[in-house]
Amino acid sequence: LDNGVMRTPPMGWLAWERFRCDIDCEHDPKNCISENLFMDMADRLSEDGWRELGYVYVNIDDCWSSMKRDAKGRLQADPKRFPGGIQKLARYMHDRGLKLGIYGDMGTHTCGGYPGTTLDKIEIDAQTFADWEVDMFKFDGCYSNATEQEKGYPLMSKALNATGRPIGYSCSWPAYQGGLPPKVNYTQLGEICNLWRNYGDIQDSWDSVLNIIDWFFENQDVLIPAAGPGQWNDPDMLIAGDFGLSMEQSRAQMALWAIMAAPLFMSNDLRTVSSGARSILQNKMAISINQDAMGIQGRRILTVTPFCMDLAASCNRRTDMPYRYQTTLSKLNYTTGSYEIYDVFTEKTMVLKDSTSFVVSVNPTGVVMWYVSAPGKLNRRLFYKGGRL
Ligand code: GLA
Repeated sequence: LDNGVMRTPPMGWLAWERFRCDIDCEHDPKNCISENLFMDMADRLSEDGWRELGYVYVNIDDCWSSMKRDAKGRLQADPKRFPGGIQKLARYMHDRGLKLGIYGDMGTHTCGGYPGTTLDKIEIDAQTFADWEVDMFKFDGCYSNATEQEKGYPLMSKALNATGRPIGYSCSWPAYQGGLPPKVNYTQLGEICNLWRNYGDIQDSWDSVLNIIDWFFENQDVLIPAAGPGQWNDPDMLIAGDFGLSMEQSRAQMALWAIMAAPLFMSNDLRTVSSGARSILQNKMAISINQDAMGIQGRRILTVTPFCMDLAASCNRRTDMPYRYQTTLSKLNYTTGSYEIYDVFTEKTMVLKDSTSFVVSVNPTGVVMWYVSAPGKLNRRLFYKGGRL
């Protein structure tokens, strides 16, 4: 969507995966969906080095609203949990150089059962978000059918545009239609949305990450052409820093999301995130690869299935010991002499000739990510174990 925003993949924090629909502020005041949670995360983003790296969106997900619209038919925040209202929260973000995202649903209800945005409510809701000075809007798709979605997602795009406020527009539409043509029209999505969820929800587990990775790379020929400045495929949130991933797996998720030119929305608790997870999520080279101005989504160029050629996919996810992968740069299509290699996670550099045989040792469910550059030509490739890259 050519609305001036999200020319590189958006980065920030999103509440859903980690904090869900916890509305029990009485017993769980620190973690419930309330203005305090978003202000806490804003403080962390601005004080712990995240904002400077590009993590600027603080995004509310489901369960923020009151169960009823107001007398004028507008959505309103739950008065107990957001006593200052959404506009005050937006100001809080803007005062700190951050942006605020909000959530709604194309349908009768949100996935969590809160008021939805039916076709007749699209204009009023778009205007409400603009009046609140919101910077991003995620439009989920529970409780609507394909026909309604076909009308509603483009209509919301128009309505947001008509407010005159640049609002990043995240469409869950394709995820509700299987994510693939002919049901999903990626040309149209690129014209009306800044990003879109293609596939199922991420959960706090390596299995979930692998499942998402597989789908995105198996369908890369459909997805890669859809991505570019202002229009991004969204494999869902970064869960590094939560409970389910080891450090190896966290690096793998970061590397793959970077390569996919994916939006980088962390869903973790920035107040307690470990220093290990933080350094992975704050890796400057991984971020700069993700934020490359050309916005080209990376491609899987090779699938290695060591020692179990005759067996199924599970053999690709070896969890026994580091996998030693021997190759040359020329076998990976780098054929013009010497290259400078920068290892993204060990931060070591070396020079390699295209014909020189080398070995990378990839830890179980881990990743080795190299930034390969030569005069006049910058490239990157990924050696990945555990996800069939
Ligand atoms: C759907 C979306 C999630 C989240 C929840 C909220 O499942 O895909 O990202 O927004 O709804 O209920």
